[in-house]
Amino acid sequence: MRAVTFQGTADIETKEVDNPRIEQPTDALLKISSAAICGSDLHMYDGRTPLEEGKILGHEIIGAIEAVGEGVVQIRPGDRVVLPFNIACGSCYNCVRGWTNACLISNPESAGAGYGYAGMGPYSGGQAEYVRVPYADFNALKLPGNPYDKWENDFLMLADIFPTAWHANELAHVTMGSSVAIYGAGPVGLLSILSARLRGASEIYCIDAVQSRLDKAKEMGATPINFSEGIPSEQIISLRKSNKNLVKSQRKGEEKRLEGVDCVIDAIGYQAHDFKAPDQEEANEALEDAIKLVLPTGAIGLIGVYMPQDPGASTANLKEGKFTIPLGTAWDKGVSIGMGQCPVKRYNEFLRDLIIAGKADPGTIVSHEATISEAAEYYERFNSREEGMTKVILHP
Ligand SMILES: NC(=O)c1ccc[n+]([C@@H]2O[C@H](COP(=O)([O-])OP(=O)(O)OC[C@H]3O[C@@H](n4cnc5c(N)ncnc54)[C@H](O)[C@@H]3O)[C@@H](O)[C@H]2O)c1
Ligand SMILES: [Zn+2]
Ligand SMILES: [Zn+2]
Repeated sequence: MRAVTFQGTADIETKEVDNPRIEQPTDALLKISSAAICGSDLHMYDGRTPLEEGKILGHEIIGAIEAVGEGVVQIRPGDRVVLPFNIACGSCYNCVRGWTNACLISNPESAGAGYGYAGMGPYSGGQAEYVRVPYADFNALKLPGNPYDKWENDFLMLADIFPTAWHANELAHVTMGSSVAIYGAGPVGLLSILSARLRGASEIYCIDAVQSRLDKAKEMGATPINFSEGIPSEQIISLRKSNKNLVKSQRKGEEKRLEGVDCVIDAIGYQAHDFKAPDQEEANEALEDAIKLVLPTGAIGLIGVYMPQDPGASTANLKEGKFTIPLGTAWDKGVSIGMGQCPVKRYNEFLRDLIIAGKADPGTIVSHEATISEAAEYYERFNSREEGMTKVILHP
């Protein structure tokens, strides 16, 4: 079959490889209809997360089951399914408690496994014609309809970024009436806007410096904030204070409620850019601003990836994943901070049902579709955060 392989930094090659096969009785084989490129793939593409040469990339995968092992009883050939990017056994201590992102069985190296990703086990990715699905009964989520129908792009977002964005909202405690600020208007940031809206947030601000992404954020219901035009926390506080519709005198001290927001989501991660020089990296600034912006007793969700080791970082501390955050201020405010990889299976079923009911359309962020043969070009363009390119889908 043909598959998208990693050959080294900024070097992607689509080539002929061996077909995957059923290795365990609990495996299935999936014939892929679509697989997305993720912002997380770019950490490996640009050489910041080391990956072995030849690995098949792609952890956002949808298709139809081709064959099943003899131990698979619920998923049948022909079933249309989407795969959570987490590969989970379904029966270990963490899986039974719903923390499939930290499965103790499926990855021999550490907790948590995934398709086609550095440090997440020996599994091949799905930017290919076929992929092996371990623990198929537990992992594959059944879908209605047929490949390439009107739901294809919406359902594909269930593999990772829609549940991930929902998880970001859980970590940031977004609920009815919350005021929310989301740093980053990439795919995860944009679907965090959709999730916040579905959860009943009253005000949503979204921060980036790529104009087409800010435009999309606005279209999806957020107030766009361009960080190249001033410190985001200052812009947001100033907007809130000057908003005549916000009630400022319900009780004494009410105006202090305008000095920040209830909930903050970091959808950027460890490769954040400098507010004053958006073409340069500055890892600590956005985190520091998030802690400044969150209101006392508020919550912050760090959904963007932070790595324990980052050999390509600019300082000795950052190389070891040590970030400078104003912990004293966060403590003083009584802030809750949550972080980590999303346990997709915790949310994907009910998010699927919101799509079917016509209440969520996460596929709206897809901007480009191409074939796996064109992968090298699309990786390069997505990596440069090209204007107008928000989410890329590859077809075999
Ligand atoms: N926790 C999880 O399970 C999980 C799952 C998927 C993706 N992720 C991570 O989420 C992050 C976002 O993913 P994505 O696909 O949206 O990637 P992306 O790289 O396309 O989006 C990041 C956005 O942040 C913007 N940005 C950079 N510096 C900024 C700053 N200082 N302030 C505000 N915005 C800034 C960029 O312009 C870009 O638009 C990545 O780190 C990705 O690896 C985490
Ligand atoms: Zn992803
Ligand atoms: Zn497990």
